[in-house]
Amino acid sequence: MAIATKSKSRGSAKPKAKFDPAGKVVVVGNLKGGCGKSTIAFNLAVWLAAAGDAPLLVDLDPQKTLSDLVSVREDIGATPQIPPPIDALPPSTDGRRVLVDFGASDFARMAQVIPRADLILVPVLPSQADVWATQRYLILVLTRRKPGARIIFFVNRAESVETSRETRETLAALKAMAGMCENATVLTSIIRRRVAYCRSLSEGLGVFEMKGQNKAVEEFERLAASVTAHL
Ligand SMILES: Nc1ncnc2c1ncn2[C@@H]1O[C@H](COP(=O)(O)OP(=O)(O)O)[C@@H](O)[C@H]1O
Ligand SMILES: [Mg+2]
Repeated sequence: MAIATKSKSRGSAKPKAKFDPAGKVVVVGNLKGGCGKSTIAFNLAVWLAAAGDAPLLVDLDPQKTLSDLVSVREDIGATPQIPPPIDALPPSTDGRRVLVDFGASDFARMAQVIPRADLILVPVLPSQADVWATQRYLILVLTRRKPGARIIFFVNRAESVETSRETRETLAALKAMAGMCENATVLTSIIRRRVAYCRSLSEGLGVFEMKGQNKAVEEFERLAASVTAHL
């Protein structure tokens, strides 16, 4: 059976809270655990830090993967150092770029933070269950995001589009979802399942800091460029 979205209802933005216009807030989220939220948040943090613009990191996941990663990086003395994540989104960003990592299924926290987000990054694994979870997450986002906030979906940990029906169908389902919302896009460049990302987690390094990972770097830089284009 083809991977598909469950309904064709169109969402609309209904902001529920005031937001601080001073700094840009990027939220990496989805309701699924294991879709790569912390991995991507960490890699983006290192990438931005390497560009001289380290974001303020906010780790809202009780598992604290992002915080652990930053501490591994500190232990190995990698540069640039990343400031340790804090546990809550401050009321004001004071003009800083903020990167937030969620725990999966923490509806209450998501509902509080999404109205503050300028960019909502949604990693999705290529599977029907992940597409359904993404639909549920999207409903939460659409009912809470502020006007103009952008949603970027991307497929993570994928086999190639050419060989994997799951990847193709997940991309198609995400495009259908994005087509029903304002300010939503799907990256056509997918992030493949690559050992570099496993090593990134265990070594506290960005994939672009590792030797011999050119394909992973190429893919990641496309993602990073799409993110920064919206900041
Ligand atoms: N593109 C990828 N290729 C291979 N492994 C990946 C990729 N993205 C994430 N992973 C691995 O998947 C696991 C879950 O990632 P994680 O970032 O902890 O997910 P989440 O934060 O959404 O729960 C980790 O072991 C991570 O190394
Ligand atoms: Mg995580």
